[in-house]
Order: sequence, then C-alpha cells, then structure tokens
Amino acid sequence: MGSSLGARGIGQTAVSTSIMTFGDPIEDLYWIYRRQRVPAFVTVLTGRTPQEYIPELGRYRIYEGKEALLYLIVRSLRPEKVIETGVQFGWSSLAILAAMRENGVGSLHSIDLPFVGHGHLTTDGNFDDTHVNAISDTGRCVPEYLRSRWDLRIVADPGASTAELRRLVSEGPLDMFFHDSDHTYANMTLEYGIAWPALKPGGVLYSDDVDRNRALDDFAQSVGRTKRVFRIHPGKPPSLGGLRK
Ligand SMILES: C[S@@+](CC[C@H](N)C(=O)[O-])C[C@H]1O[C@@H](n2cnc3c(N)ncnc32)[C@H](O)[C@@H]1O
Repeated sequence: MGSSLGARGIGQTAVSTSIMTFGDPIEDLYWIYRRQRVPAFVTVLTGRTPQEYIPELGRYRIYEGKEALLYLIVRSLRPEKVIETGVQFGWSSLAILAAMRENGVGSLHSIDLPFVGHGHLTTDGNFDDTHVNAISDTGRCVPEYLRSRWDLRIVADPGASTAELRRLVSEGPLDMFFHDSDHTYANMTLEYGIAWPALKPGGVLYSDDVDRNRALDDFAQSVGRTKRVFRIHPGKPPSLGGLRK
C-alpha cells in the first residue's frame, strides 16, 4: 500500500503530502494502529512527524485523535457520499469536509437536532454568552469555505432524524456512514440497520462511542463482519469502531 496524494492548502499553492491509501481503510488502519497507538499511528500513516503533518491536519484545526482518524479514513477511502448523524459544534463534520476538500471529491450529509451551546468563560474571566438562546449552534465550527460540499439537515426530533436518514439512503448508495448521535443501544442498532444496506461494497460503517453498549458487536455479528475498534483517549476503552462492507 502507499501512494502520494497531492494536497492544496487554503489560499496556497499545491504542497506534496504523502498519505497512504489503503487496500482496506479499516483493516489497514487497524493493523497500523495496533502497532503504533494514537497519535503515533498518524505519523506512520502520513510518513511524517506531527510537526510535518500539521500543515495538512493543523491547517484545518484537526488536532484530536478522533478527527484525525476520520480525516485519514476519508482521505484514504475517497468517498463520494457520506452520511453522519450527530453534528453538535461540527468537529467531525469539519474533519470529513476538510478531507473531501483535499480529495477534490465527495459530499457530506449530516443530520442533527437543534443545539444551542452554553457559552464559555473567556481568558479575561468574562462569560461569553453570545450564542446562548441564540440561533442553533449546530455545526458552527465548520468554516464557510468548507460548506459547499455540506448538506446539513437540522430536524425537529429523533423521529424526524430517523425519517431523514431513511430518505437520504433512499436517494442512492453511500460510501461511508458515521454514527455520532444518540448512543443508546436502540438508536445505534436502528441507524446501523438503515445505513448498512445502502453502503456500497467496500464502504465503511464507522461509529463513535461503541464502548457504551454492545450495539456494534451485535450488529457486526448479524452482518457477518469483524468490528475494529480504536482507542482515542489513553486509559479509556476503545471508543471508535468500524466495519467494512
Ligand atoms: C456527541 S455529539 C456529536 C459530536 C460531533 N459528531 C463531533 O464530533 O463534534 C451528539 C450530537 O447528536 C445529536 N443527536 C442526539 N440525538 C440525535 C438524533 N436522534 N438524531 C440526530 N442527532 C441527534 C445531539 O444534538 C448532539 O449534537
């Protein structure tokens, strides 16, 4: 495995960035991860030290293992159509959209409920409540220049979210599904079950918070696949899981 992908910086000329492509995005990534652990595995994937890969990941403010992994999977898989459930401020959306921008291909459909943040303490000790009770904060960390590939659907309630997911998968096959919404066993099983039949062969079902319950284990068994899990937070159970169709 291994090939070079060109990467274009924001408002910059093209820079050469070596990110491996995989025969199997989940298996190959897992193989490397098992031997390296986060975040060193990112270095192995990119063939660069953190300081060197920062021009590509850091350019999009991607520093967390979860987003870095998502970014690399999207860079490797080069999906045309991705659906995610659960956006909140939009860090996962940003990682997916940034990778699509570098790939020059793909669109992301995201579903969430209205979400309003709670403000935060600024460094000078004041409370910034600009966004409290204001318009929805959903996806607000995704910059404008990444939004042309983004179809963000904010729906009223969980029932409408499921209906929207069904509608999106009925519009055509997908390359990747990312669950990060309501992490109950019932909802995870429901969403996996809607997305899986619509995934193209070789497509990837990817899920956060798989350590909360056995939903991914049971689902993997029901479709005859082996789940792969990634530990993102040192000392905590592996929480990101993937299945390849
Ligand atoms: C853990 S956060 C998502 C984090 C985000 N993916 C990220 O990486 O930054 C969970 C989100 O799921 C949303 N959510 C909860 N239940 C949902 C449902 N049934 N359908 C869609 N979104 C839901 C919440 O509004 C919240 O924004």
